[in-house]
Amino acid sequence: MLYIGVDLGTSAVKLLLMQGDGKIVNIVSKEYPLSFPHPGWSEQEPADWWKQTVEGLKELTKDCDKSEIKGISFGGQMHGLVVLDKDDNVIRPAILWNDGRTGKETDYLNNVIGKDRLSEYTANIAFAGFTAPKILWMKENEPENFAKIEKIMLPKDYIAYKLSGVHCTDVSDASGMLLFDVKNKCWSKEMMEIAGVKESQLAKIFESFEVVGTVKPEVAEELGFPEDVKVIAGAGDNAAAAIGTGTVGDGRCNISLGTSGTIFISSKNFTVDDQNALHAFAHADGYYHLMGCMLSAASCNKWWMEDIIGTSDYAKEQADIEKLGENNVFFLPYLMGERSPHNNPDARGMFIGMTMDTTRADMTQAVLEGVAFGIRDSFEVAKSQGVKIEKTKICGGGAKSPLWKKIMANVLGIDVEVIESEEGPGYGGAILAAVGCGEYKSVEEAAEKLVKVIDVVKPDKELTAKYEEKYQYFKKLYPTVKVLW
Ligand code: XUL
Repeated sequence: MLYIGVDLGTSAVKLLLMQGDGKIVNIVSKEYPLSFPHPGWSEQEPADWWKQTVEGLKELTKDCDKSEIKGISFGGQMHGLVVLDKDDNVIRPAILWNDGRTGKETDYLNNVIGKDRLSEYTANIAFAGFTAPKILWMKENEPENFAKIEKIMLPKDYIAYKLSGVHCTDVSDASGMLLFDVKNKCWSKEMMEIAGVKESQLAKIFESFEVVGTVKPEVAEELGFPEDVKVIAGAGDNAAAAIGTGTVGDGRCNISLGTSGTIFISSKNFTVDDQNALHAFAHADGYYHLMGCMLSAASCNKWWMEDIIGTSDYAKEQADIEKLGENNVFFLPYLMGERSPHNNPDARGMFIGMTMDTTRADMTQAVLEGVAFGIRDSFEVAKSQGVKIEKTKICGGGAKSPLWKKIMANVLGIDVEVIESEEGPGYGGAILAAVGCGEYKSVEEAAEKLVKVIDVVKPDKELTAKYEEKYQYFKKLYPTVKVLW
């Protein structure tokens, strides 16, 4: 039996073909453009996602026995607003998770509606990237487009819709819309009223491992797939990544170093932190999780390497880095504003502390460290809520760098477990497909059987102490410079 995981990311769609026993047979990646039409805005064309997904599926499965393909599922970039009219045309480009245009709407929600009410209805407060503030933005700024909305969906759900014809979503991704009552796993009537939407415009909700339908006959024909291939709801990319790294059940942690950087803590019980600094969302294993999300993580490194110093040889640049824990250059990683824990779409990136002897390697190191310190900020919030984290898994493009993993282990002072494949969301999507098709009894069982730890990066006592000092310095920077924004 074969299962497909589609990771609909921000820079590319990554597709993964997995055997029932968890062996990865093939991986394909197809890029698409990301546009920033105004400073702080971030958009993509759903048509590009679909075109590249179809191309990617064809390439992924070209050498396999297609009659063996049983199911397809997803991990998708979260929070994006995709709107369709009555003829199923996309009304405007999707507004993405790292878009910061909704400062005014976010303020309205948090301060006029009030954080307490939002938290009561949804278990979360408003962040600029969440979906409900974007709906309010459209209502105010594009009333003609707003009036045309027949269906509201999240990015990966657009792909599920194109594949199956079912307007569906899953509990983990729905959690990031600020329209969803996370605790009770249903749409919030109060929030629908506040956002001015009707339940008929919203998707049918599924658990991440549930079957929503089968591929439409015309799609099956184009792809050369059997017509009974099942489409399984899937999850937001962080929940899918958590499945792909075995972060299921109670008290486990995963860090994802992708375009965004997240720290994800699984929990069998529903919990909310008293400041709502961490997102309290449903998990793809049927339970819940807490999550901190920084908007720019591996993307800071990509920006620094490719756009600024003009190289794609990341390993060579990192090979010159020697003085861990001794860097006097600091980098604030807020290239797209920041979500957790600062909730400030106007925050900006910054290098601080250069002198005449600062080197290119120092600045490269500062970028990697700045992201690790940003993750530490959310880690501290989780600790302050009594969450005990003794070790973490790691995934995403940034997890390919041994140096970054070492920095992460020492900045957090915990073991970082490396798993066989760092393809978190794609692998998680394939696991969800396998569970949906009955290959495993539960997501927990599948993750326990399939995910293997192959290495552990342990923190070094001396280095952790040096990084503790550096982190205390880093912590003072945001409050000091925030008046500038
Ligand atoms: C999570 C978030 C990001 C995106 C990235 O809340 O906004 O991690 O899901 O794709």
